[in-house]
Amino acid sequence: MTIIAVFNQKGGVAKTTTSLNLIAALARGGLDPLGIDLDPQAHLTTIGNAEVAAGRDSIFGFYAEDRYLSDLVRKFSIGGNIIPAHIELSKVDALHGKGLRSVMRLKNGIQSEMLAHGDSPIVIDCCPMLNVLSLNAIFACDRILVPISADFLSVKGAIQLEGTLKALEHVVKKRIERRYVITRFDARRRMARDIRGQLQERFGSDLCATHISENVSLAESAYYNLDVFSHAPHSQGARDYDAMLTELVSTGFI
Ligand SMILES: Nc1ncnc2c1ncn2[C@@H]1O[C@H](COP(=O)(O)OP(=O)(O)OP(=O)(O)O)[C@@H](O)[C@H]1O
Ligand SMILES: [Mg+2]
Repeated sequence: MTIIAVFNQKGGVAKTTTSLNLIAALARGGLDPLGIDLDPQAHLTTIGNAEVAAGRDSIFGFYAEDRYLSDLVRKFSIGGNIIPAHIELSKVDALHGKGLRSVMRLKNGIQSEMLAHGDSPIVIDCCPMLNVLSLNAIFACDRILVPISADFLSVKGAIQLEGTLKALEHVVKKRIERRYVITRFDARRRMARDIRGQLQERFGSDLCATHISENVSLAESAYYNLDVFSHAPHSQGARDYDAMLTELVSTGFI
């Protein structure tokens, strides 16, 4: 089943919010999703009450001590399971170079342990950098979901990212399927509408028709360690993420 990396090298664009609510929406749909937190900030891990005291019990144990991924899986309080992150994950770049072996490590681990099976889609929450960890996610996934927050420099960042993905396609020798989704959209702002227009022109059908509105329930739900469907089921945020999943499924992305 699908492995989705939620990636944008720009910080604070709603990667974790999107990963969290995508996992929750998949779990609500009867699937058994597995989240992988590949960000040393461990925000997804924290929101889902899956923190571990020792780095070796997080995904860091896989990179540093060759631990099996399946031994690191924990229950995720918002639904499904998670392989948690830990601050020690920031050492991975120094431990491993950017050679093909180190960037293929997660892909090989997922494949050899057959973690992406049947009704268990995998959602990888990436950190805001194009480092060894993010390259691991990009090489391991079959789809990339790119949240773009409708604010200053977002179009420039998206164009840079598109260039990076095109360069990586030469390495993997296939198209990397991707979908851009606009987040934190405020229809009252002309800038947000302008940004949407520019992205539509640039990315065509790679841009989700659904956008995620700026919505206080999305920010609040993370604060209460909940997904938006549990915290505020009738909010605009819940409707938007539900619509995003429906679109991704109906267009064959998931
Ligand atoms: N649609 C939204 N409406 C309101 N607040 C939002 C929305 N999406 C995300 N946020 C808030 O914006 C902040 C950044 O979101 P988030 O942590 O998901 O971004 P990120 O891309 O994962 O950040 P980082 O690059 O640090 O990992 C958070 O406080 C989050 O609650
Ligand atoms: Mg994040």
